[in-house]
Amino acid sequence: MIILKTPEEIELMRAAGKILAACHREIAKMIRPGVSTWDIDQFVEEFLAKNGATPEQKGYSGYPYATCGSVNDVICHGFPKKDPLQNGDIVTIDMVVRKDGWLADSAWSYEVGTVSPDAKKLLEVTEKSLYLGIEQAVVGNRIGDISHAIQTFAQANGYSVVRDFTGHGIGKDMHEEPYVPHFGPPGRGQRLKEGMVITIEPMLNIGTYHAKIDADGWTARTRDGQLSAQYEHTIAITADGPVILTKQ
Ligand code: MF3
Ligand code: CO
Repeated sequence: MIILKTPEEIELMRAAGKILAACHREIAKMIRPGVSTWDIDQFVEEFLAKNGATPEQKGYSGYPYATCGSVNDVICHGFPKKDPLQNGDIVTIDMVVRKDGWLADSAWSYEVGTVSPDAKKLLEVTEKSLYLGIEQAVVGNRIGDISHAIQTFAQANGYSVVRDFTGHGIGKDMHEEPYVPHFGPPGRGQRLKEGMVITIEPMLNIGTYHAKIDADGWTARTRDGQLSAQYEHTIAITADGPVILTKQ
């Protein structure tokens, strides 16, 4: 069942999204060789507490941390670690923020120091694919129109789209219907309605889209060890078009 949100509820989700976006802006300033995903996780816990918000991922299905920190070949759900980030790494920081009962979800990939041209291009294409998906998030379109726009652009640039993880509806729960794959044919799936709030969160890989899960039960890596990147926003579908609730 898809739970539609009122304009007032969307405003509450936007308040959660503002805190999340502010958090990402701070993380962007923090990231450099020598800083760890553990340091970032600590920072996020403190920042959210100061802003009257809580980290929804902590304790969700047993996930132990406030954030996911996914380095290089990690696709998503990497555990924060004390190992310092190295010059040339790429790292995706993902979190879900709860404020006054409502949620927002956003992941962002960052460059650590100076990265290779290949890594830079992967980040650029992945971010652009997110915005092309968002453009399709309009009343009357279908979920498949979002999926198709992302896949088409990703593959035109030589990248593969991860299949095992999707975007999702979000509200008072982290994962609601509808699910939002980042690949697939246009014109299929749920029709988009005013009041839906969804995440769009493409994960693009340089090599194969296949994933494998580490022994920790969470960390998802590319099967071939090549790089993966991800950008995610929480989007409200309104009569005036898509509204990015996690805009930085
Ligand atoms: N923020 C993520 C999502 O898009 C990942 C959730 S990880 C979990 O759904 F640990 F919270 F499950
Ligand atoms: Co999400």
